[in-house]
Amino acid sequence: MSQDTYEAVLHAVLGDAGTAVLEARPDGSFRVVSSGPEWFTVLVGPTKQGDIVDLGGRCPPLDHFMLVARDHWAHGSTTGIESSGIWIEMVGDQEIPLEAYARRIEGRPHLILSSPARQYDEVRGMLQHARESLLSNGVLERAVEERTQMIRAREEEIAVRLVSAAEFRDSATGAHIRRIGRFTLLVATAMRLHEHVLDHLELAASMHDVGKIGIPDHILLKPGPLDEEERRVMERHTVVGARILEDSDTPALQLGREIALSHHERWDGTGYPFGLSGEQIPLVARIVAIVDYFDATVNDRPYRPAMSVEEVLGIMRGERERHFDPAVLDLFLHLQPQIAEIRRAVDLEVAEERALAAERAALGGRGAPSREDFWGTDGFALH
Ligand SMILES: [Fe+2]
Ligand SMILES: [Fe+2]
Repeated sequence: MSQDTYEAVLHAVLGDAGTAVLEARPDGSFRVVSSGPEWFTVLVGPTKQGDIVDLGGRCPPLDHFMLVARDHWAHGSTTGIESSGIWIEMVGDQEIPLEAYARRIEGRPHLILSSPARQYDEVRGMLQHARESLLSNGVLERAVEERTQMIRAREEEIAVRLVSAAEFRDSATGAHIRRIGRFTLLVATAMRLHEHVLDHLELAASMHDVGKIGIPDHILLKPGPLDEEERRVMERHTVVGARILEDSDTPALQLGREIALSHHERWDGTGYPFGLSGEQIPLVARIVAIVDYFDATVNDRPYRPAMSVEEVLGIMRGERERHFDPAVLDLFLHLQPQIAEIRRAVDLEVAEERALAAERAALGGRGAPSREDFWGTDGFALH
């Protein structure tokens, strides 16, 4: 295949505007095959086809992925491997969510970088466009409806991937995220919130800390207490999360945005980011504030061991009408048997998933890179 045809095929298969394609060279550098997207320029500077670039030392997750990728190019199968999550690079004040994919194309080792946010924007753009051009036309209304459903499903999928990206920074957080979703749904169901809210609440609550993917590792993964400046940066995870989820038509994401933004507000107005108080704080965020505090303190953290449930509930009672909404807290205390049941169920699920993963690893050799391949096994603190 001539070089021209080869480039054309690459473009046809992979080369949408959100994707950069690079060929790996033996000396560790890369030849640019397709450098379309703007974020690629932000990341490595201006390039054109054929340029040689060095990607090392720019983003730690990519460096980690390259270790696995080089091993794959040297010994792996013809199918590719992908980074098992999205990471976010901050370049200046721009946030770039990225994922990487390594495979042999025409027998040559290639690295494909793409930015899911770009796809996310495109999906939203498509929806907008479909509405504007088609909604007035009755005949096409159903087609639009189907398209909207599909786009919603894709938005939800992206939401799940964002949640797993936040989770990906610390394996201990996976179970936390799962419990928060279920605790929140339990409390909201007992409060008889509208079905429309309940339908989306578990996913929405699990996104409460999604903004942490925008917090630098040296702060997020710091084992000890944060200093003043670090705390200020850490507190940004509320507004970053809200920005990630804003302007969506998907109910789960709209609800997720409210929760991400307001789950650190406190009933007495001393919380962040805005110091809202009482019923100014969305009810769903008041619920998450309670279940999040509870779950974080009754489980081990890298900088302190777990406290007993009795001890934690004692502290929480003391925070009635200070940190916590009194009515929601009373209900939460009343629901302790069900809370304990959810904790047992999630522990069981996590143990089963671990056993399954260990079994798979023993059978299939190395398999896909695990999150420890990227991030190590450090945990992070709740802030
Ligand atoms: Fe948080
Ligand atoms: Fe949390």
